[in-house]
Amino acid sequence: MTEDTKFHHGDATDAAPIVEMKNIEKHFGNIIALAGVSFDVKPGECHCLLGDNGAGKSTFIKTMSGVHKPTKGEIYFEGKPLHFDTPRDAMEAGIATVFQDLAMIPLMSVTRNFFMGREPTKGKGLLKRFDVEQANEVCMEEMRKMGINLRGPDQAVGTLSGGERQTVAIARAVYFGAKILILDEPTSALGVRQTSNVLATIDRVRSQGVGVVFISHNVRHALAVGDRFTVLNRGKTLGTAKRGDITPEELQDLMAGGQEMAELEGSLGGTV
Ligand SMILES: Nc1ncnc2c1ncn2[C@@H]1O[C@H](COP(=O)(O)OP(=O)(O)OP(=O)(O)O)[C@@H](O)[C@H]1O
Ligand SMILES: [Mg+2]
Repeated sequence: MTEDTKFHHGDATDAAPIVEMKNIEKHFGNIIALAGVSFDVKPGECHCLLGDNGAGKSTFIKTMSGVHKPTKGEIYFEGKPLHFDTPRDAMEAGIATVFQDLAMIPLMSVTRNFFMGREPTKGKGLLKRFDVEQANEVCMEEMRKMGINLRGPDQAVGTLSGGERQTVAIARAVYFGAKILILDEPTSALGVRQTSNVLATIDRVRSQGVGVVFISHNVRHALAVGDRFTVLNRGKTLGTAKRGDITPEELQDLMAGGQEMAELEGSLGGTV
């Protein structure tokens, strides 16, 4: 089985986008981080955002998740123009971001990390308290669905592998109603096995109809799960390619900025 066929790919490409970003510009003083980028995400697809260091990937997804306001350009959410004033606005609309540092507390249990203050409660008024049993049950079940069998709900997050922690963060976002899941370089610090687990998690989430934005430096990881690919280069995009319409070599070339890559290959004798 090759990486190309391992995952089934969304055929949701004709569906209306959940989120649509049009001609987004972002300036920081004199620095133009984004110079008119358009990008959309449809339900049940994995749209990869690729690009070299400093290309503008993080700036772009921060604009999508309400951290930055665009200098210019429009954001449409489910067809309507929308302004996110804060990350909370974006979260409430259903845009969840899993950052690399994951915002987890290693010494606390997986369940506590899963709910993070959103624990189910039982009882009313002064008797209202966390429903620990219910929380444990939900957490174990949601993790099982993602292919992770916890030793128990009390297992500390610090004892999980990097890939499993990514999966906790992803499961948590989906459980709390994410329609769009943004993953900023979820595989960059992982080994081969952990990477394939995270890619399998992305595949599961996608098949539940969630739109995934997958940011990566790594063309192979992107090709393993991506339905569409957008390459950013110095704040600009050359457009979006569908899976099958672009070869790994073309994608790699676009990422490295074509010309520079050719030069590098020349100087290294074609080993890159
Ligand atoms: N808050 C900021 N103030 C000033 N310049 C910024 C700010 N954030 C980003 N930039 C600049 O915008 C450009 C794009 O940065 P960004 O972090 O979006 O790149 P990236 O594609 O995520 O890179 P990497 O792969 O290294 O994470 C860079 O030149 C960066 O220095
Ligand atoms: Mg970045």
